[in-house]
Amino acid sequence: MMGGMQRTVRSHTCGELRATHDGKEVTLCGWVGKRRDHGGLVFIDLRDRHGITQITFDPAEKGGADGLHDLAGRLRGEYVIWVKGRVRVRPGAMANKTMATGAIEVLASDLKILSEAKTPPFVIDDEAEVAETLRLKYRYLDLRRPSLQKNLLIRHRMLSIVRNHLDAHGFCEIETPILYKSTPEGARDFIVPSRLNPGTFYALPQSPQTLKQLLMISGMDRYYQIARCFRDEDLRADRQPEFSQIDIETSFLDEEALFPIFEEMMKKLWKDVLGQEIQTPFPRMPYREAMSRYGSDKPDVRFGLELQDLSALFEKSSFQVFTNALKVNPRGTRGSIRGIVVKGVAEKYSRKDLDELQALAATHGAKGLLWIKVQAGGELQSPAAKFFSDDEKKALAEKLSLVAGDLVLVVADGKDKVVCEALGALRLAVGAREGMVPKLGEGKPAFLWVVNFPLLEFDDRDGRFYACHHPFTSPKPEHFEDFVQSRNLEKVEASAYDMVLNGVEVGGGSLRIYRPDVQGAMFKILGLTPEEAQHKFGFFLEALQYGTPPHGGMAFGVDRLAALLCGVGPIRDVMAFPKTQRGTCLMSESPSEVSAEQLAELGVSVTVAKKE
Ligand code: AMO
Ligand code: AMP
Repeated sequence: MMGGMQRTVRSHTCGELRATHDGKEVTLCGWVGKRRDHGGLVFIDLRDRHGITQITFDPAEKGGADGLHDLAGRLRGEYVIWVKGRVRVRPGAMANKTMATGAIEVLASDLKILSEAKTPPFVIDDEAEVAETLRLKYRYLDLRRPSLQKNLLIRHRMLSIVRNHLDAHGFCEIETPILYKSTPEGARDFIVPSRLNPGTFYALPQSPQTLKQLLMISGMDRYYQIARCFRDEDLRADRQPEFSQIDIETSFLDEEALFPIFEEMMKKLWKDVLGQEIQTPFPRMPYREAMSRYGSDKPDVRFGLELQDLSALFEKSSFQVFTNALKVNPRGTRGSIRGIVVKGVAEKYSRKDLDELQALAATHGAKGLLWIKVQAGGELQSPAAKFFSDDEKKALAEKLSLVAGDLVLVVADGKDKVVCEALGALRLAVGAREGMVPKLGEGKPAFLWVVNFPLLEFDDRDGRFYACHHPFTSPKPEHFEDFVQSRNLEKVEASAYDMVLNGVEVGGGSLRIYRPDVQGAMFKILGLTPEEAQHKFGFFLEALQYGTPPHGGMAFGVDRLAALLCGVGPIRDVMAFPKTQRGTCLMSESPSEVSAEQLAELGVSVTVAKKE
């Protein structure tokens, strides 16, 4: 320390002082928040990560440093200061019960301005209405807001609980490379050109899927990693191009052994972070049931509005839309007619409202949306009413227990999945509109496992199968024979499972294929030629041949879990430096162009002009 100079360190944080500190001399550091000048008497709110403390500069007080008051007059918002003073309990009426430190103030005796600040582009508090683009451009200022700081702290707490839990269960944290090779999870890859190997590219991992399986082959037994994943896909509120997973893999365990470890982890998180008790084991719901009751593979089971199958009522309908949906197609399957009943709202839903719902259904592939309103006399009002026979009307009213005021929303399609998904989306929209969905952060958390997923899905357009989860997922033992014989492939179920919380898929995993011949068969079913399989996964197929333990695992979305624990919607609110829906970072202005020299070195040429 330099001779005589005082150290500008703090004795306490801005969230720490209480009435019990009365009379104590303290030093605090932080940012100047609200500032009030009462003609001589100056109050400032001093803020740091831990809280806010009121600092008072009183010119009538003796014993302050020279020029203290002039210096206090120079303070502006977001200046960083060091202040020394004495804690004093505020007189009864002046106490602020809404602040943790509201019982006291610090009467300043010395002050140093450590750093001045330009006038920030927005006020740093949680009340100000500020465009998100501006917030993201100045993310470092936005992150000074108490609510965002709290979110990052909850996220940190969550990860430390997770690490302790997995450590206690014998999981070993292992880092895996970011510069790697394509590992398909159903999105596009981000690729990175290699300077040392011109014309070749790394792919950033969509998840460490093959790497964690290789670690099982290596005998690591139980692995985990807080892993960064990269997926070039269309972004939404709950999807970022780069995000984190609690990535887990184990050997010699099955679902019955794995689920309790994961359930216990959730139990600890909700208990330690939110003080909430949650019930374990979680209920399990087969995929088919989730789709037919809730129209979603991640059902929000906190409210009703369940889907009803109306197909049987309209087998002989004169309404073409219905009969077309029920025709058996060349693949031997047929569609369905399903609906949801919204009680007592018929009057409230205008043509415009119904058109909006139809537009929503259309984004999920529905070709139309039929509405039926039950009128005061029990008559059914609907654009298709003239096609319904009296018997059909009666059967419908009975099946759905219709009473005056009810609104029925019906979708028919030759693909049952389209019907379910469209109605699932309508269910959520109407549920939210009618106040049936608990608000973020409110109510009891509804955890469940969705199980018995199909292994494969046939895509009519491409005329080929896709893996529903990823190509390393094992068929269920009871469907193994069908799979290896390529029989009834659409009916083969996977040993795959998702954990769902309040309608959000927070995690997914599976038991893996561990036989090289079965993995080869999978690649073949997915339409890879032996050459393609060799090029993309040769190293992996090779590895499977050196003694592979049965293994399986799971990955949780860190950002989604953190958002749920914080009671916020968009995952960007729990990420320090998120990207926009267009995948850009407004703060650093990335992605950006690179120099001609950089491109030349990489042997890469750019053929499109940057869009303005
Ligand atoms: P999956 O692709 O289901 O499985 O991902 C696991 C979990 O990661 C979260 N997630 C995302 N979060 C934010 N932004 C995204 N773009 C995003 N994509 C996924 C979800 C999801 O449940 N390797 C497998 C896991 C395994 O089989 O073990 C995998 O990545 O919460
Ligand atoms: P249209 O015969 O096309 O005039 O349709 C009559 C009514 O049926 C309209 O209200 C449409 O929105 C509705 N509709 C059309 N196709 C479907 C469908 N696939 N599922 C449900 N309703 C439909």
